[in-house]
Amino acid sequence: MKILVIHGPNLNLLGKREPTIYGEVTLEQVNQILISEFPDVEFEFFQSNHEGEIIDKLNSIVESDFDGVVINPGAFTHYSYAIRDAISALKIPVVEVHLSNIYAREDFRRHSVIAPVCRGHIAGFGYLSYILGVESIVKLKKGT
Ligand code: DQA
Repeated sequence: MKILVIHGPNLNLLGKREPTIYGEVTLEQVNQILISEFPDVEFEFFQSNHEGEIIDKLNSIVESDFDGVVINPGAFTHYSYAIRDAISALKIPVVEVHLSNIYAREDFRRHSVIAPVCRGHIAGFGYLSYILGVESIVKLKKGT
């Protein structure tokens, strides 16, 4: 099973950036945790601060052997129709994840333009949101 994990803008600063909101685990540690939690999954990890690069990455797997995508679009969650359209072009399940509970935060964070085109949406569990996101794709694929 092959899963692409996309981390959006500012997530490169994980661990240093507002740790009371996003936690102290670094992005590299999140990736390593996923690798050790899911030894049977082949992961590709991609982080970018640039909307176009995230769109290019999503476009590049339109015809591929990936089984699913876990994406934390960062602030693009709240306004990127272009990322939304790139997700709509995929036939595999895409799961949107957030470290923080976006519904318990500022008004502008309470709306996701991405969620309606995703298979599901997980928010508020810190780095566990990523584990739950991957788990959901694994289970969907297995049909369990
Ligand atoms: C975030 C929530 C977004 O509102 C914010 O812009 C982020 C991180 C999260 O994981 O909680 O960059 O996606």
